[in-house]
Amino acid sequence: MHALIVLAHPEPHSFNAQLKDTAVETFKAQGHTVEVSDLYAEDFQPAEGPRHFARRARPERFGAQTEQRHAHDTGTTAADVAAEIAKLERADFVLFQYPIWWFGMPAMLKGWIDRVFTFGGVYTAKQRYENGKFLGKRAMLSVTAGAPEPSYSYNGRSGELALLLWPMHKSLVYVGFQVLPPFLSAGIQDGIKYDRPVDERHRIDAYKKGLAERLGRLDALAPLPFNMLADFDDTGRLKPGAPGYSPFIRAEP
Ligand SMILES: Cc1cc2nc3c(=O)[nH]c(=O)nc-3n(C[C@H](O)[C@H](O)[C@H](O)COP(=O)(O)O)c2cc1C
Repeated sequence: MHALIVLAHPEPHSFNAQLKDTAVETFKAQGHTVEVSDLYAEDFQPAEGPRHFARRARPERFGAQTEQRHAHDTGTTAADVAAEIAKLERADFVLFQYPIWWFGMPAMLKGWIDRVFTFGGVYTAKQRYENGKFLGKRAMLSVTAGAPEPSYSYNGRSGELALLLWPMHKSLVYVGFQVLPPFLSAGIQDGIKYDRPVDERHRIDAYKKGLAERLGRLDALAPLPFNMLADFDDTGRLKPGAPGYSPFIRAEP
């Protein structure tokens, strides 16, 4: 297996960076190959906009999808984006490692998706969901949070994790990935406090062990269920009788 780890954290010594190291070591120990997209270290520019398109399809009015498609068709996709797409194409498994910031992902990672999942290059109206470009590949989120673990469970104060992560999961499904259940490391406040009491250190080590253990048994994990295009009618609504898998898209009662 060839794995790609996409890391979105600005600090090389952060807990997130350490979980990335854990993942790299785990993959290598299993005989897999692995590469890392360390977005801050690469100084990835996450804000989609005109500056990334040297030869514009429509110079008078910027439209991201129009320019992404044109860049793809003319072979002028920005080098940084093309490199990320190539990494995704090489990977059988993609791990996203990031902290929960404001109930979502850091802007760096959102921007990476905005720029890298290009119209034309990664998806089209015909190439998505069950016809997606990355069909046959699996992805998984490993997220960290400051709030305690119970607050991410059903009726928890932070909001249920599966719901908070839905937009990211949905984006991955949209481009054809199978998405495995997420891994949460919670109750981590502002980096690893090396000088904290011993039980804190143990908790952090336990999360690292937990991630390694999880990555060691990927084949045993069932992908999260999502509706595919075939479940929707021509107007984009769920067909009667089709299953619903989340409060975002509910089966008819
Ligand atoms: C801008 C920002 C927003 C945050 N928002 C949340 C949040 O919504 N929920 C939460 O549980 N923690 C939140 N946190 C805490 C981080 O998730 C936590 O510090 C991080 O996961 C710890 O990992 P690290 O040491 O690798 O940064 C936030 C932190 C920052 C800097």
